[in-house]
Amino acid sequence: MTAEQPASAPAATHVVARPHVLYVGTPAYLIGSVNADGSANLAAASSHWALGDMLCLGIEADGQTALNMAERPDITVNFPSPALWPALVRLSRLTGRDPVPAAKAQRYAFARDKFAAAHLTPQSSDRVAAPRVQECLLQFEAVVRRMTPGLDGGYFMVEAEVVRVHADPAIVDGDEIDPRLWHPLVYAFRHFFDRGDEVGWLPSSRLAPYPPIID
Ligand SMILES: Cc1cc2nc3c(=O)[nH]c(=O)nc-3n(C[C@H](O)[C@H](O)[C@H](O)COP(=O)(O)O)c2cc1C
Repeated sequence: MTAEQPASAPAATHVVARPHVLYVGTPAYLIGSVNADGSANLAAASSHWALGDMLCLGIEADGQTALNMAERPDITVNFPSPALWPALVRLSRLTGRDPVPAAKAQRYAFARDKFAAAHLTPQSSDRVAAPRVQECLLQFEAVVRRMTPGLDGGYFMVEAEVVRVHADPAIVDGDEIDPRLWHPLVYAFRHFFDRGDEVGWLPSSRLAPYPPIID
């Protein structure tokens, strides 16, 4: 017993942590965009959420992707499977921006063809000018509708409308993506993971065999 912790104080359940990043574990994605000369750019990212047909992407302000989105709103958002994690490492120190912004100069190099650098294959889209990533089983074509500057000026909240979804037949059941067959690449605290076992589902699932059984 100390002066700070009287006998009646509840036992501590957590410790104070100071993690370097706050990436708790979300699917990583590869974002395709169009450069001013019509060539394609490709970047690794993970910050995003989806509601209805809208995606909100967290995109750093000083990259080529943000520049492209502001001028040419056609993009693709491609979700890699776990085995593709080396492609994200290959892209992790590359930017399509030339010259490389001063703040990134120590860590990044310019690459004109990031598909080749990542060992990935561009695939033409149906509704947008940006190419998809052929190796990704799940691909969204999308159009940027709004870019809102973040509080510190270092990033944009990019709202993009998904106009077409492409999926490998191996993960599709009717019009749905079968969540039991689809394995996103999960990015957590700078490490990559496959997802774990299924633990439950919502009553609203169109593929569930029966309603969830809960207490
Ligand atoms: C696994 C991973 C996740 C990343 N997540 C994001 C992200 O969510 N948003 C972002 O803007 N950059 C993210 N980055 C960094 C970009 O890939 C990096 O800034 C890159 O230079 C962008 O390329 P660009 O300049 O050609 O657009 C991530 C990188 C990696 C490797």
